[in-house]
Amino acid sequence: MKVSTKQKIDRFVSVIVPIIFFAFTGFTFYFAPTQVNFSPLLVLAVLYLYAYSYRKIENLPHYLDLLLLVTIIMVTFFSITLIPSSIGHFSNSEVNILKVSVLGISSIGFAMIITLLFNSLELSLVFSVFLALLGIAMEGGSLSIGASLFCGSLFSSLMSHRIRRRSQIIKAGFFSVLVFFIAYILECSQSLFLMSSISLSFLKSTVLIGFFSSIIMMFVLPIIVPGILYFFEIIFKVVTDVSLLEFSDFNHPLMRRLILEAPGTYQHSLVVANLSEAAAESISANSLLARVGSYYHDIGKILKPNYFVENLVTFKDVHKGLKPSMSKLIIVNHVKDGIELGKKYRLNPRIIDFIGQHHGRNLVYYFYQKALELEPHGKHEEEYRYPGPRPQNKEIAIVSLADTIEALSRTMDEPTPARIEEMVRGIVRKRFMEGELDESNLTLKELEKITQSFIRMLCAVFHARIDYPRDDARKPAETKKNKS
Ligand SMILES: [Fe+2]
Ligand SMILES: [Fe+2]
Repeated sequence: MKVSTKQKIDRFVSVIVPIIFFAFTGFTFYFAPTQVNFSPLLVLAVLYLYAYSYRKIENLPHYLDLLLLVTIIMVTFFSITLIPSSIGHFSNSEVNILKVSVLGISSIGFAMIITLLFNSLELSLVFSVFLALLGIAMEGGSLSIGASLFCGSLFSSLMSHRIRRRSQIIKAGFFSVLVFFIAYILECSQSLFLMSSISLSFLKSTVLIGFFSSIIMMFVLPIIVPGILYFFEIIFKVVTDVSLLEFSDFNHPLMRRLILEAPGTYQHSLVVANLSEAAAESISANSLLARVGSYYHDIGKILKPNYFVENLVTFKDVHKGLKPSMSKLIIVNHVKDGIELGKKYRLNPRIIDFIGQHHGRNLVYYFYQKALELEPHGKHEEEYRYPGPRPQNKEIAIVSLADTIEALSRTMDEPTPARIEEMVRGIVRKRFMEGELDESNLTLKELEKITQSFIRMLCAVFHARIDYPRDDARKPAETKKNKS
């Protein structure tokens, strides 16, 4: 009961605080559209309220959140007000439409950037309200420009949210500008219900400019948006879906090394990625981040691949001649080695977090037991634990669970649905009881959804392995028949 009330408050705050922030900023600019007198102070005050009450980006200090939003708002404000005004004041209607199209294009671009950076449609919605207010302020209270800016920017946010392919940026740019111009034509001169009031020359020039703007956006956005995002990613240490797509490419040098030097670990990572992506999807977490984090989580194993069971080809136990403490050191070091490799190959810090946190403070159980056998009264438990930290967000917690579940599922003799469920629930319960998930922000309800997703996926994998009667017995007879 306590948890659900907290969630309700969180959800309420997540909507209300950005609305207050953008509405306030919008009205501030409405009263001072060209002169920024007191508005920066007000903006900063409301931004402070936003950062203090509700932080949209996890694991970032408040000031970075604040700075990121301040930067985007200021850049948006200046480009939207200064670029169209530099076109000048002409009575010519074509020039006015050109001005409107510049306003629309920049709004759509910024809405896309906000969506890709914050990964939140709530925030994008309020940003669209802000852009609409800004447009109304600039055009002397013109509702038509406000409505079309709102439609265009919100549509661009909807289309660029959770992108899986680069071509989605091209599509988003093209269709958003079309939506913007359609809304502009419909709203202009109150012509929504009186289509006859539109002059033919206005319609012709708007359609022409609208169409060419859409085409231009198709080429410009895929170049400009990733460039701006890259800049923000480096400064503010965030990761967006666009760069995640780059890291998910198997031609990334680190992925190529994993495939060639530790093929067993690569196969393990693929299964972990599938399990994690589905689980993250089930709780509306960032499934692309979970997938890419899974690809790289065991990257440290490429330095000593033969010491990890999934890469053993000859089934020769290389740990046999080693002391349990030495084996433990090699196993635990794949985390440290992975972090170093990640830094060397310039992985995003959010992906390196997966390498460092996917084992949390777990016990290296097998070698801990061996140490106990050799020295029953020794206090080994702390020595045989991974150094941590524990998973700090939902996506890493999911990968950490999927990692263990995948490894154990391979050792199951007869994986019936009942046994799979028992195994998955056992692991999740154990991790929960040990406090491994305490810092990940996962709720009990989400944990249940994740568990169900794991069970469903594993049942589907093992269901495919039905022992069909083999064809080998029939072959000799058939071959004879064919010969004759
Ligand atoms: Fe690992
Ligand atoms: Fe792993």
